Amino acid sequence: MPANTWWKNGIVYQIYPRSFQDSNGDGVGDLRGIASRLDYLVDLGINAVWISPIFPSPMADFGYDVSDYCGIHPLFGSMEDFDHLIAEVHRRGLKLILDFVPNHSSDRHPWFKESRSSRNNPKRDWYIWRDPKPDGSPPNNWVSNFGGSAWQFDEATGQYYYHAFLKEQPDLNWRNPELRQAMHNVLRFWLDKGVDGFRVDVIWHLIKDAQFRDNPRNPAWHPDRPEIESLLQVHSNDQEEVHDVIAGMRRILDEYKDRVLIGEIYLPTDRLVTYYGKDLSGAHLPFNFQLIQAAWNARAISHLVNEYEAALPEGAWPNWVLGNHDQPRIAARIGAEQARVAAMLLLTLRGTPTMYYGDEIGLPRVEIPPNRVQDPWEKNEPGLGFGRDPARTPMQWDGSTFAGFSTVQPWLPLGPDHEHDNVEALSRDSGSILSLYRQLIRLRRSTPELAIGDYHPIPTESPAFAFLRTYGEGRRVVVLNVSGEPTAAKLVSVPDGLRVKLSTYLDRVGEAVGVNVALRPNEGLVLG
Ligand code: NOJ
Repeated sequence: MPANTWWKNGIVYQIYPRSFQDSNGDGVGDLRGIASRLDYLVDLGINAVWISPIFPSPMADFGYDVSDYCGIHPLFGSMEDFDHLIAEVHRRGLKLILDFVPNHSSDRHPWFKESRSSRNNPKRDWYIWRDPKPDGSPPNNWVSNFGGSAWQFDEATGQYYYHAFLKEQPDLNWRNPELRQAMHNVLRFWLDKGVDGFRVDVIWHLIKDAQFRDNPRNPAWHPDRPEIESLLQVHSNDQEEVHDVIAGMRRILDEYKDRVLIGEIYLPTDRLVTYYGKDLSGAHLPFNFQLIQAAWNARAISHLVNEYEAALPEGAWPNWVLGNHDQPRIAARIGAEQARVAAMLLLTLRGTPTMYYGDEIGLPRVEIPPNRVQDPWEKNEPGLGFGRDPARTPMQWDGSTFAGFSTVQPWLPLGPDHEHDNVEALSRDSGSILSLYRQLIRLRRSTPELAIGDYHPIPTESPAFAFLRTYGEGRRVVVLNVSGEPTAAKLVSVPDGLRVKLSTYLDRVGEAVGVNVALRPNEGLVLG
């Protein structure tokens, strides 16, 4: 696969469809809304759009509980609206990536209705059914990711079914060949429509221990952490056989031209990189969430980047993710000033960057009043601070009452400063975070060293993180002050005659710098 492939040299932008643009005045975003904002994305400079699930769903987990894998939820529009969207995306030279949710369906999916109808139903084995223990208790100690037992008893047939998430999200049985076949047909359905790839939900969960052994207790767990962390997930996910399942999906995509398979995987680096598969037969891009979880200091970041680079299998293409719909907003995690440094890091590292909508306008954590909580996780385990609504609030387009997102009160509140923190206002401000994102993206796209070049660490003696990107004879140096104090980064072994190409403050361009680079608080520089 040449390095000029779109999913290698491009930038992926995640849209949470409920919150991007409402076109029909119901307070929830939709497909026509997304289509109406594509020119903004072109102007921003991204290459591919990934949209979170848009399929028919009872919305117990906001679309991650699918009741028809080949349809469109009326809330988001019709299949015609989808066809319109994909045509408009492609007309602009962009790519469209869909969310594929194969680990579980909705409990309202016709497959599950059949499966639960009797023990002898042909689809019984499409889901995971187990007998109770002799005392009637669940088959093992596995815990749902949203808290409580992962097993739900079904009175009618006297067995438990397994759900790694909500009880409304029964896990599918990927050991069953008919289920696999049905899911492959789902992939083909969308590929035939022209979608350019999939982000596969919880791909490392697809196969569970064949013997359903208890997970061991996590001695480090504390009750202020989610219950799922009370057990080490040794038997419930990341099983060896999952790689065959992923290779099976990959073979379907490989029947088509230039499609991408992205896997959602939360695992340590050494496990994560196994998801490229044997001889790269797995995911093209196992999502790398390390920047989301990192302790935000130069030492930790430098360590994780270098460790990841070293762990990549031969020929594997790296990727970096800074935010998503399950994690606190980057600006809330590290502060508005460092969010600019993070943007520079994301867009100068080697590997496909994935941005989360709204981060480019610095959307903060938006407080959700108790009576407006939507997220089922927050409802199941309230008050721990793991609710995901604060990072799913509507995109802010302009200074109008509902920020140009909708004509009515949106499904989740807007940020407190939406009169100022919006695309229109920040576009007028040449020093804004949005202007920085635009310039960073333009620079990455026009600089092969940054887009597809090699990565080399540069040791520094300060709270700065530095690295070199090379392509042919070309050199770019990136120096990031990952602190709120001024610093001077002493760069060992860098090219002569460096000048500032871009500062996170959007000034200093053309300034000559030597091996001692002075950095203001929270300043990042691209030099070349
Ligand atoms: C991961 C998704 O990103 C998250 O939003 C969802 O709740 C779970 N998978 C279950 O599908």
